[in-house]
Amino acid sequence: MPASSTASNAKITAFGSYVPQKKLTNRDLEKLVDTSDEWIVQRTGIHERRIAEEHEFTSHLCIAAVQNLMNRYEAEIKDVDYIIVATSTPDTIFPSMAARVQGHFGISNCGAVDIQAACAGFVNGIQLANGLLLSGAFRKCLVIAADTISKITDYSDRTTCILFGDGAGAMLLEAAAEGSGNIAAVYANTDGEGSHHVYCSNLTETIGEYRITNNGKLVQNGREVYRWAVSQVSASIIKLLDDCGLAASDIDWFVPHSANLRIVQAICERTGFTMEQTLTSMQYYGNTSAASIPLAIDLALQVGKLRSGQRLLLAGFGGGLTQAGAIVEWHL
Ligand code: ACO
Repeated sequence: MPASSTASNAKITAFGSYVPQKKLTNRDLEKLVDTSDEWIVQRTGIHERRIAEEHEFTSHLCIAAVQNLMNRYEAEIKDVDYIIVATSTPDTIFPSMAARVQGHFGISNCGAVDIQAACAGFVNGIQLANGLLLSGAFRKCLVIAADTISKITDYSDRTTCILFGDGAGAMLLEAAAEGSGNIAAVYANTDGEGSHHVYCSNLTETIGEYRITNNGKLVQNGREVYRWAVSQVSASIIKLLDDCGLAASDIDWFVPHSANLRIVQAICERTGFTMEQTLTSMQYYGNTSAASIPLAIDLALQVGKLRSGQRLLLAGFGGGLTQAGAIVEWHL
């Protein structure tokens, strides 16, 4: 068996998403910082993003995405026995956002944990749910990816504030017969020595390479993140395809983290994917961190691009620096 193929009994049985109503366009940003619509579109492909209201937090986005999943697929979630929320922007350090979701929907006998893997979190969540279901100890897992990066964005810093937006996605995975699952292959990879290239901290003193310059706001070295993503994420994707004996043309839809369009184009050039077979969400939503992959999937569902029976390659990457990928068979 190829090294990256995974045993899976996890069937994807429902899917949902949510974005806040409030839009922040490039024109709006022109009024906040010294930038232009032309610069932002050319460098990032982003036209607008959604921003949570002051009283709207990540837990609200999680709950709304799960409600959307329930409405669209008439999904029953009372018997969910594990909730995983991937987020870098929880309302509170504890309790977890997963516990807030459990409490809101009144789900009994249910595990609830948050994971923090920045923009790779949704795919990490799928990988963990796949393992929990395969263990036989759990039967139904809800994976939610939600971020309100606007809450940790410095809107006086033009190098970061043009990039980010808020949103959430949710996926229900259920145990089926072993070997019949939808998670065909996975990879995970981390380069922690580059962790200082993008971070967010509330610490009040400098620790090692973490310059505490921004009072709890996101700090990044855009060029370094760009360089890492294009070389290391491309290498992981090529290895996954090789290990599985697949070519880029065997994948119906490539869904990389929608960091920005230029990173995605550069990864496509290196891995052999065309932009036509690539799903993104940054045009409408900016970089929504953990939520960007489910939001790209949802945009494709809404226009009828993504259909049952198709194969996706998801590639999450971001702060850590960490990355997680999965080949997923879509049967919804
Ligand atoms: N508007 C106008 N000019 C700007 C802006 C802006 N918003 N931001 C920077 N500039 C200027 C710079 O000041 C610089 O001017 P100078 O040449 O006079 O010094 C010039 O534009 C070029 O700046 P660079 O930083 O070199 O711009 P670059 O082409 O690298 O694009 C960008 C910046 C878009 C941030 C790019 O580096 C990038 O895509 N990086 C990846 C970052 C990313 O996606 N991070 C998110 C993932 S991390 C996570 O997990 C949260």
